[in-house]
Amino acid sequence: MSVELKRAAAAAAVDHVEPGMRLGIGTGSTADEFTRLLGDRVAGGLDIIGVPTSEKTAELARGLGIPLSTLDETPELDLTVDGADELDRDLQLIKGGGGALLREKIVAATSARMIVIADDSKLVDTLGRFPLPIEVVPFGLAATRNAIAAMAGALGLAGEIELRGGDAPFLTDGGHYILDASFGRIPQAKALADGLSDIPGVVEHGLFIGLASKALIAGADGINVVGA
Ligand code: A5P
Repeated sequence: MSVELKRAAAAAAVDHVEPGMRLGIGTGSTADEFTRLLGDRVAGGLDIIGVPTSEKTAELARGLGIPLSTLDETPELDLTVDGADELDRDLQLIKGGGGALLREKIVAATSARMIVIADDSKLVDTLGRFPLPIEVVPFGLAATRNAIAAMAGALGLAGEIELRGGDAPFLTDGGHYILDASFGRIPQAKALADGLSDIPGVVEHGLFIGLASKALIAGADGINVVGA
């Protein structure tokens, strides 16, 4: 996806930012474009406070002079703007390609609204082309993976479930591992989300359902808006 499209989606989202807002700031290359544009607005006098969804985003935002807070100090947010690895027209998302899904979901869940920014290659009819990231605790990894495979199998889903990073596992900001599950098409996203949440070793999963209120999708013809 081109940087121009990421920037176009980000610019459309910046227009939704109002003075005084408490903002969740997403993670990933598209969200980074938003953060940079937000930094320009802040430098121009816009008064907002941001809560970053990752250490990486915090570092970028700090460098741009964006005032930052935490969910402990600012537990209610007005708006979160974040990217997605995949989304459908019901605003169901797959997130976590960048590994920040747990903090992203906590921040989105505490926001009155979530706007997703993406280019049109991320829009799919049915989720699942992008492997689903599942954040798990390192303890009991093999048992957790088996439990995920069994639960998914009961829903008619199968596929590789790979530990991100392999022999040198990727560690999330929370110190957890990520399993990437290549199930293919996921027509029953809600049932899969519920099933994953019921498995003890699963910390969180990358299915974001009922969290996004709007998506701003950049394509060659401009910005396509999904949702209200
Ligand atoms: C980070 O954990 C992810 O959820 C990102 O928001 C998502 O991967 C989108 O990233 P890009 O904008 O870099 O594609």
